[in-house]
Amino acid sequence: MKGIAVVGAGRIGTHHVQALTQDVRGAQVSALVDPQRERAQALAERFEIPTVAADVTEVLDRQDVDAILIATPVVTHLPIIRAAVKAGKAVFTEKPIGASLAEAREAAALTEEAGVTFQVGFNRRYAESWAAAHELVRSGAVGSIQRYHSITRDPGPYGGDPTRTPQGTIFKETLIHDFDTINWFLGDARPVTVYAAADALVAPEARGTGFLDSAVVTITYDNGAIATAEASFCAMYGYDLRGEAFGSQGMVQMGEPTNTACRSFTADGLRVPTNGTDTSRYHESYVAEFQAFVDRLHGATLDHPGAQAGVLAQTIADACQVSVAEGRVVQMGEVL
Ligand SMILES: NC(=O)c1ccc[n+]([C@@H]2O[C@H](COP(=O)([O-])OP(=O)(O)OC[C@H]3O[C@@H](n4cnc5c(N)ncnc54)[C@H](O)[C@@H]3O)[C@@H](O)[C@H]2O)c1
Repeated sequence: MKGIAVVGAGRIGTHHVQALTQDVRGAQVSALVDPQRERAQALAERFEIPTVAADVTEVLDRQDVDAILIATPVVTHLPIIRAAVKAGKAVFTEKPIGASLAEAREAAALTEEAGVTFQVGFNRRYAESWAAAHELVRSGAVGSIQRYHSITRDPGPYGGDPTRTPQGTIFKETLIHDFDTINWFLGDARPVTVYAAADALVAPEARGTGFLDSAVVTITYDNGAIATAEASFCAMYGYDLRGEAFGSQGMVQMGEPTNTACRSFTADGLRVPTNGTDTSRYHESYVAEFQAFVDRLHGATLDHPGAQAGVLAQTIADACQVSVAEGRVVQMGEVL
């Protein structure tokens, strides 16, 4: 049994504690870290976690902590990774790896030099239809991929605060999942150019402040493939993730905007529920990514999103920000 200290007891940390405790084999949550003591204490009591701490350094010497799972705001990721790697602990970090590309690169170098098990929280790779489609594409079933289209639309109504949203969030925190899955599907192909069009369409009052809630990105690859990815902070019909890889011999489609295959036909017409959030609709993908991480802690060799995948996706996110700021196509060589 491996022990995991979950760092961050906020929205996603709460979900992850539940997933690890109830659905993942071979590991237990041995500590919970959050400076918001009461929040951490309540969560620890709910899931019978023996140790609660305010700072990650308080749990790094513990024998029952083999790995650190980071579910904190992105500005805290690098300091926590530094401390964890220094203590020789394995690290699973929520995306993005760091608050900047330089931070992501530092974290990648540290984990690679130390040789610790490291994984980035790109859970979309583990969603059932993406995993199945990726296997089909790798097997050559749809030929060579010419086009990939990826969609991420967060459920509405939008409840965020544009003034408290760091610039580039739509690229660095939302579309980064799309960038990673596109890179993953395209295998050895490398991104060459990036063009991003983006605006504040959901919260137009924030226009001109740098806040962006809607974006479309075009990425060209050195094998000729052209990928597009789009995101919105507000889909009034619910959480909508989809992907489509079109190849020389066919196509694969991933994701489903509906919650269920059940359709009700009544006097009001056809109804299919589409409400839901990341943690309700994609719970299994989080469980699968944690299971892969835990299996790796036990010695399994598995395909996984590692440091270089995290850095590459973050590099594309950076290129998007340059593209929007300067209104032009960005060569990846400018930001690599
Ligand atoms: N993979 C996904 O689908 C997905 C979904 C949502 C969020 N995330 C990522 O998860 C991370 C957290 O997001 P969230 O929505 O849960 O944020 P949140 O604000 O709800 O929670 C963050 C928690 O971290 C705590 N915290 C802050 N600094 C800390 C520190 N130094 N040590 C310990 N705890 C600290 C806060 O007190 C808070 O409880 C972000 O990186 C985000 O991008 C990923």
